[in-house]
Amino acid sequence: MIAEDLKTRGRTLDHVAGLYDLIIPIVSLGRSNYYFRRTIKELNITPEDKVLDIGCGTGHFSELILKVINFKSGSITAIDAAIKMIEKAQSKNLGESAIFDAVLAENLPYDDNSFNKASSLFFFHHVDYDLKVKSLNEIYRVLKNDSDLIIIDIDKPTNFFGKFCILCGEYLFRQPEIKENRLGFLPKSFKESKFSEVEILDSWFGYVSMYKLRKN
Ligand SMILES: C[S@@+](CC[C@H](N)C(=O)[O-])C[C@H]1O[C@@H](n2cnc3c(N)ncnc32)[C@H](O)[C@@H]1O
Repeated sequence: MIAEDLKTRGRTLDHVAGLYDLIIPIVSLGRSNYYFRRTIKELNITPEDKVLDIGCGTGHFSELILKVINFKSGSITAIDAAIKMIEKAQSKNLGESAIFDAVLAENLPYDDNSFNKASSLFFFHHVDYDLKVKSLNEIYRVLKNDSDLIIIDIDKPTNFFGKFCILCGEYLFRQPEIKENRLGFLPKSFKESKFSEVEILDSWFGYVSMYKLRKN
């Protein structure tokens, strides 16, 4: 599916779609596959689950899920606002269980209560505070009750190395949304969203955090 209007204030990555799979291990300091696998474990994905992945890029997370889960009634729906990212993901021909849609996180075209698990890896530093809250509330709407959302993203630094890495990112990418995360706006957006249960599960390098948000 391609949304009719893909205009967003979010920082989309059409321009790096071709190189993204090569870049990702570098910018994640070699940890991308670990983050993806850890998310699969925390969500405890089964072949019956309907999973939603927000800001999926080239679909690497879906690819890894399909290596370990043989979906039966379940599936993974992965969305991104960058058409080129979605085209790249679709070109991987992952089969019918992997659905890639070019749509906006802040305006999801799915019915209420459509999914029972959700993930978002390194998407929230691409959108400003207002869009963070809107996207969270959209994810909340399309999730069923008793469902978890796992988020891994840049967060307020807890050591010098973390602060240094984020400031380099801010300087290189000229992205004010990264600054928001450095200043602690990610957990603040959780508090303002409809998700009432928020737990921090892990953190790495002093600036990457993993959160679990639950819809009760
Ligand atoms: C850093 S990438 C993360 C990709 C993938 N989750 C990963 O970890 O490799 C962030 C993605 O968010 C997408 N994005 C930015 N604004 C968006 C929006 N409003 N809605 C959906 N996706 C958006 C970008 O196009 C980009 O592909």
